[in-house]
Amino acid sequence: MEDDRVETGLNMDFLRRHFLELLAAPLLVWVQWLWVRRLAAAFPGFPPRLLRLAGVAAVGLVSFAALMLLPWSSRLFGYAPPVEWLKAAGIGWGVVSGAAWMVDLAWRRWLAPRTMVPPLAGRRQLLLQAGRLAATGAPAMALGYGTFVERFRFRAVEQKIRVKGLPKDLDGLRLAQITDIHFGAFFTRRDLDYAVDLANAANPHLTLVTGDFISVHSDPLDDCLERLRRLRASAGVWGCLGNHEIVARCEDYATLRASEQGLRILRGERAAVRFGNATLHLAGVDYQPKGRPYLKAAAHLLQPLQFNVLLSHNPDVFGVAAAQGWDLTVAGHTHGGQINVEMLGMRANVARFYTPYVYGHYEKEGRQIYVSRGLGTVGLPSRIGAPPEVSLLTLCAT
Ligand SMILES: [Fe+2]
Repeated sequence: MEDDRVETGLNMDFLRRHFLELLAAPLLVWVQWLWVRRLAAAFPGFPPRLLRLAGVAAVGLVSFAALMLLPWSSRLFGYAPPVEWLKAAGIGWGVVSGAAWMVDLAWRRWLAPRTMVPPLAGRRQLLLQAGRLAATGAPAMALGYGTFVERFRFRAVEQKIRVKGLPKDLDGLRLAQITDIHFGAFFTRRDLDYAVDLANAANPHLTLVTGDFISVHSDPLDDCLERLRRLRASAGVWGCLGNHEIVARCEDYATLRASEQGLRILRGERAAVRFGNATLHLAGVDYQPKGRPYLKAAAHLLQPLQFNVLLSHNPDVFGVAAAQGWDLTVAGHTHGGQINVEMLGMRANVARFYTPYVYGHYEKEGRQIYVSRGLGTVGLPSRIGAPPEVSLLTLCAT
C-alpha cells in the first residue's frame, strides 16, 4: 500500500460523523466510576484497593478506545490487530457497562419500590433479584454472541429480481454481490476466502463488489484486493468505492490495484456487458455524501430504453436513482443495521437514522434496489440480527 495515504483530519465532517461517539465517550468513562461506587456500596467486604484498581483499568480501557476513535490513531500504531482488539474491548465494555447501568438504574428507580411489598418480599425478592441479574447481564451476553458467533455465520442469500420486459437473453442472469468487507483485524484472509468461495459456488455471470474494502488508512488493502483476485464470473468482476475508501484516502490507489487483480471499479463510468443479443448497462458511482445532490453525475450514464444497473455503495440514493430511471440499484453500506435491537415488534439500529433502506429488496415505481448486509463490521466487531452475507441476485423476466 502506498505511504502517502492519510486520513481525514479533525474537521467538521469528522465531528458530524462521530457526534454520537464523542458525546458518549465521557459519559461512559463516568459510568465506570459510578459502577465502582455502586459495587463498593453493595459489597462492603470487598477490598477497596482491588475495586479501585478495577475502576482505573475500566476507565483506562474506555478512554483508550475513545482516543482511538480520533482520525490520526490508525497512523500512530499502523496495522496492529492486538491494538484493534484492545480498542474493540474498550468500546464493547463501554457499551455493555453503560447499558447495564441503565437497566440497574431503571430497577432501582421504578421496579424495586413497587415490587418489595411484604409479606411476599422475601421469596419475591429472590426471584426479582435473579431477573435483575439476568437483565443487567443481557447486554454483555448479546454482545458476546454477536462477536463470537453471529459474526461468523456467513450465508449466501438469494433474491429474485423480477423485471417487466427484461430481454430474453438477460433472463436468468446471476449476479453475485460482495460488499463492506472491512478487511483487517476482524475480517481476515480466511473469512474473505470463505466469502469468495460462496460467491464462486453460485457460478455467477457477474460479480459486484460495492465498496468498503477496508476501514482505515492502516488496514491491509493490498492483501484484500489480492484475495479478491480469486473471484470468478463469466462476464467479469465489477465494483464501486465506499465511504471508507474516502476515509482512508485510497480511492485512486484502490482503483488501480483492483484493476490489476481483475476487478474493474466504475467511478462515474459505465460499461456495456453483452449477453447474446442483449446488453446489460452497468454503471458505478463513488460514495454519495449526504447534504449534496445525489447522483448528479450519474444521469448521463443511463441508457434510455435499455436495462440499467447502478452500483452505489450507499442505498439512500434509491429515491433519486428510481426517479432517474435505474432499473436496479445494488448497494451495501448499512451492514443490515449490524446491531439490531428488537423492541415491541420494532427493529432499532443505527442505520435507520440515515436511510429507510436498511436491508434487502425494495421497489419504487417499478425500479428496484437490493441492499446487502455485507461481510465485515465497523466500530464493534459484532453482528446481532444481521449475519454476514454474500448476495446472489437472479434476474427474472415477467
Ligand atoms: Fe461498510
